[in-house]
Order: sequence, then C-alpha cells, then structure tokens
Amino acid sequence: MKYKEIFMKRAIQLAKNGLGFTSPNPMVGCVIERKGIVLSEGWHNKEGIYHAEFLSINNIKDEQLFLDCTLYVTLEPCVHFGKTPPCVDLIIKKNIPIVVVGIQDSSDKVKGLGIKKLKKYGVEVIESILIDECRILNKRFFTFYEKKRPYIILKWAQSDDGFIYSENKKNNWISGVYARQLNHKWRSEEDGILVGKKTVLNDNPKLNVRKWFGKNPIRIFIDQKLSISNYYFILDGSQHTIVFTEVNKKSQYNIEYIQISFKKEIINQILYFLYKKKILSIIVEGGKKTLESFIKENIWDECRVFMCETVLKSGLKAPEINGIVSKKMNLDKDKLIIKKFQFKN
Ligand SMILES: NC(=O)c1ccc[n+]([C@@H]2O[C@H](COP(=O)([O-])OP(=O)(O)OC[C@H]3O[C@@H](n4cnc5c(N)ncnc54)[C@H](OP(=O)(O)O)[C@@H]3O)[C@@H](O)[C@H]2O)c1
Repeated sequence: MKYKEIFMKRAIQLAKNGLGFTSPNPMVGCVIERKGIVLSEGWHNKEGIYHAEFLSINNIKDEQLFLDCTLYVTLEPCVHFGKTPPCVDLIIKKNIPIVVVGIQDSSDKVKGLGIKKLKKYGVEVIESILIDECRILNKRFFTFYEKKRPYIILKWAQSDDGFIYSENKKNNWISGVYARQLNHKWRSEEDGILVGKKTVLNDNPKLNVRKWFGKNPIRIFIDQKLSISNYYFILDGSQHTIVFTEVNKKSQYNIEYIQISFKKEIINQILYFLYKKKILSIIVEGGKKTLESFIKENIWDECRVFMCETVLKSGLKAPEINGIVSKKMNLDKDKLIIKKFQFKN
C-alpha cells in the first residue's frame, strides 16, 4: 500500500465508527500525520456535533506541529456554516500545509467549494486517494444527493424451495438466529424501515432493533385505507412511524399520516417525501408485493437475500431480481447473497 493510502485507510476505518449515527450527515474520518507518525485522529459521530477535522485538530495543543503536518480526510471538508462552523476555515487558520481528500462532497452546499477555498489560501490539496472506498463508505449520502432519494436496500429470507411465506408454517422463522441478529444490525444502520400492509397483518412485526445495539429506524408502511388497527405493534407509538395512505388523517404523537394518491405508482411519491424529510436510507423488509414494486420500477441499490435450508413446499414465491453479486457468505446454515443494482433494458 502506498504511503498516503495507509493514512486514508485509517481515516476510513475511523469514519465507520459513525455508521448508523451520523445521518443526515455523512460518515467522515480524519487523521493528522507528521513525519510518518499519527498525531491525532477523529471521526464524525452525530449531526450537530463536531466534525472529524475539528476533533483531530483540537487534540493538538502545540501549534507548531501543524506547520509541517498532513491532514487526511475521507470527504471534502465543509465550507458552509451549519450546526458547526466550516472545517475549511479551521484548517486555514491552523496553517495546515497539505490536505489529502478521499472524495469530493457532492452535496449542494459543498460540491468542490471546500477544495477550492483551501487552494485559494495556499493549501496543497491532494485528491481522490482511495476514492472508490470513500464513495462506498458514504453510499447512502451520495445516493441521496445525486439521485434525490434515499439509498434503498431490499431484504428478504427465502426457503430452499424459493418461498418467502407459507400458510403451513405461519409462525416459524425461515432464517436462523445469526441471520436475524445480522438483520437487526442492518436495521440500526438505516434511517428507515419499510414494509407492506400484508406483512404487518400477517407477521405483526415490531421493526425495531432488539438483537443489536443501536438506534431504531423510522418505521414506514403503506396502508391505503387505514385498515390496520392500533392492536398492531407498528402503531404502538414506541418509535417514529410514517403511514402512507389515501386517507386524510391528522398525525398524532410519533405517528405521521401522509396522504398520497393511489391512482398512480406510489413508490416515487413515497421516495420524494422521504427525500424531503432527509431520510438518507431505507431497508425494505417485504413482503413480496412491496419488494416487487421497487424491483419493477428499477429503484433499488442493494439487495440482501438469505437463502435458507427450510423447505416450505408452497406459498408466496420470492421476488426475482437481477443485479451483480457483490458478496456471498455463510451464516450457520443460511447463505447470504448481496447484489448491487445494475441497469438493464
Ligand atoms: N421471508 C421474508 O423475508 C418476508 C419478509 C417480509 C414479509 N414476508 C411475508 O410476505 C407476506 C406479505 O407479502 P405480500 O406480497 O402479500 O404483501 P406486502 O408486500 O407485505 O403488502 C402488500 C400490500 O401493501 C400495500 N402496497 C405495497 N406496495 C404497494 C404499491 N406499490 N402500490 C400500492 N400498494 C402497495 C398494498 O396494501 P393495500 O392492500 O392496502 O392496497 C398491498 O396489498 C407476509 O405474509 C409475510 O409473512 C416475508
């Protein structure tokens, strides 16, 4: 590995500490290096709290050390006043001579302006170090700003004979305990979790994070005529919930009712609302009809499928999906396959 990549790799590692906590901000890691030694490190952990650059710079009390150091940061430093002041100004103020940037920020308020300002004030900027890794690190953030919609993960578990549900085995899980635990970890990493009405009626899911540490995602579901009663966990008010419906109903504590038209395809209406609400990512956990609405419209980014040993013999067939296989792994008796979206005519 080349010299600069070693420090950028460390900055990426640090940034990942923020997974599930930083939204709607990106995950950012920062390393300050001098003569091959790491002087300071930091990462962004929560919206409104210090940025990675600020934290790393603030750790260094001897101002002389800045004069011949290099700052590595996974994402272009911010240039605007948000809940915290611009990192670019701090870098300039401390006379840091070299800044290595993993990838440019494509969000509206930065978009190259951070790098431009650093250069204007005489800072040497080295760009695109481990650019692909830095892009993947913030796949949610980039998708949100570039496609103007949340990053979408489709997820289901299917039996060995290709079913996702069967009347015969109503109360039994298809996947094993490790797959279910991993799924809770995934839930903690996304802003929202979306399901269809029949999944709510048949499974009464809580859609929270119980088998992992982390925040609960916002629950999102589609109920055209508001036929789900308060008996179901999804309407218990225990976590923020958004219901997309054709009915005009006033939102109440923790439950938002959003009126949309069911005369046209609803997915784009839902995504537009979630975009406006700054929801950077959603995990769609079924059922078949809901998953297929995203697949049919070619609106998804990643698909995570557990292929399980269970045999169901009949029931709801799993959705069919194309895409490029990016990862395969075994989890006890289950196999996980992750696919990335690839556009096909
Ligand atoms: N194995 C797994 O991983 C897994 C995961 C989740 C669920 N499931 C199973 O899947 C079964 C349910 O699947 P399902 O296909 O029958 O139902 P579903 O996708 O859960 O829900 C379908 C309903 O959601 C609403 N909806 C979803 N997408 C819509 C769209 N694009 N446009 C309009 N309305 C939309 C409609 O409600 P309205 O009827 O109000 O119009 C529709 O009838 C459950 O029994 C559950 O056990 C399995």
